[in-house]
Amino acid sequence: MERLVRLAMDRIVPHVTSLPGQPAADTEGAEALARELIERDPPETGTPAEELLDLLFTRAIPKSFNTASPGYLAYIPGGGLFQAAVADLVAAATNRYVGVFAAAPALVQLETNVVRWFARLAGLPPGAGGYLASGGSLANFSALVAARRDRLPEDFLSGVLYVSDQTHHCVAKAAALAGFPARRVREIATDDGFRLRLDLLEQAVADDRRNGLRPFLVTGNAGSTNTGAVDDLPALADFCRRERLWLHVDAAYGGFFLLTERGRRAMAGLESADSVVLDPHKGLFLPYGAGCLLVRDAETLRRAHGSEADYLPGMQRDPAFVDFCEISPELSRSFRGLAAWLPIKMHGLGPFRRNLDEKLDLALWAADELRLRPGVEIVAEPQLSLLAFRLVRPSRPPDAVDALNRRLLTAINGRGRVHLTGTNLKGRFVLRLCVLSFRTHADRIRAALEDVDAALREVAE
Ligand SMILES: Cc1ncc(COP(=O)(O)O)c(C=O)c1O
Repeated sequence: MERLVRLAMDRIVPHVTSLPGQPAADTEGAEALARELIERDPPETGTPAEELLDLLFTRAIPKSFNTASPGYLAYIPGGGLFQAAVADLVAAATNRYVGVFAAAPALVQLETNVVRWFARLAGLPPGAGGYLASGGSLANFSALVAARRDRLPEDFLSGVLYVSDQTHHCVAKAAALAGFPARRVREIATDDGFRLRLDLLEQAVADDRRNGLRPFLVTGNAGSTNTGAVDDLPALADFCRRERLWLHVDAAYGGFFLLTERGRRAMAGLESADSVVLDPHKGLFLPYGAGCLLVRDAETLRRAHGSEADYLPGMQRDPAFVDFCEISPELSRSFRGLAAWLPIKMHGLGPFRRNLDEKLDLALWAADELRLRPGVEIVAEPQLSLLAFRLVRPSRPPDAVDALNRRLLTAINGRGRVHLTGTNLKGRFVLRLCVLSFRTHADRIRAALEDVDAALREVAE
């Protein structure tokens, strides 16, 4: 065991410590490598660990988006706290069963503590509950199922839910998985700040009621993926209360900015939600595999997910304790809570708070610098740590300007120090820059700005 871990550590430590010097993404030849690695039959005999680890560290791992690097400013950056990786090693090596409380009460309690800390962070009342899911998509799915069960009859096909045109696609996917036809998902347009337009929402809900349908849920964004937009949550909460609608807030990206003063201000109103998703594998810098669903009333999760079987041990009725299998889709599950618990206990929340504050500063600084570049327009101002920008050329046809911006993106990323991604906003191609890794500091944003300048010179027309 020690030898195997040492062999792994001999490769992990140089890899992690050299992350700042590694390219922010390198997928050249990666597809050919993937093809070369196709193996039809599983091996009958073993291969030495050194050889396998070398395959991983010298060939496979380098050929990817470097989601753990400080230069990864694409999509939503990954983290990868090493303490969480150690927690995963402990959890997997001891392999305790945390799906039911009776099987490992003390371990389940550690994970329950983490969820309760998050619920307090979200400002939810004492009756709140939740669980750690594998990611934001699963957490959003579970939220929709809980709301469906709570607000609609068993025959629920007249139910309608509302999203904005900036809502993450996983919510529409969740609706489909939860059994709703696409025609029961209303997409509401957003304003200039990419926030859901309440006037259009009110109208859509009224129209649906008039047509005999049953509006039941509104999804608000607390940090959209496309632009980082935070919807007007107090207004949404008011509206949902008046209309007796379930307010679900997708804070998968934005949620942990609640640790900061500015984040709390930006996301005021989130505490009124009936359910909230926030992803520790985004804003808490954990490795992938950690989402979190919180609900205002823990019983709503139990009603949606609870089930019985003769072969299971008795479930907890003590409100201090939780059986995860009763409030989530999973029975057997990894002990994912340990990956959050260990880093939080080792560091306290202070360093997380300071790190997230720094990301807010870096995004503001990047936006202020970018807008000084001639011809550069900030299309989405940072509401948290994400912004979108583009090069404008009023005299050129829109498609030519889109093509120019695509070339700009390729030229920036081609330098290898940062990796940005693009998206379409109101029909036009824009570049996005999202700062979320604990490894990203001012030096990397400076490098990003230098690379933007070099790329602007390169594509200048
Ligand atoms: C706002 C938002 N919601 C949901 C998701 C989906 O989360 P996951 O990728 O963890 O399934 C994402 C992912 O980036 C997101 O940014």
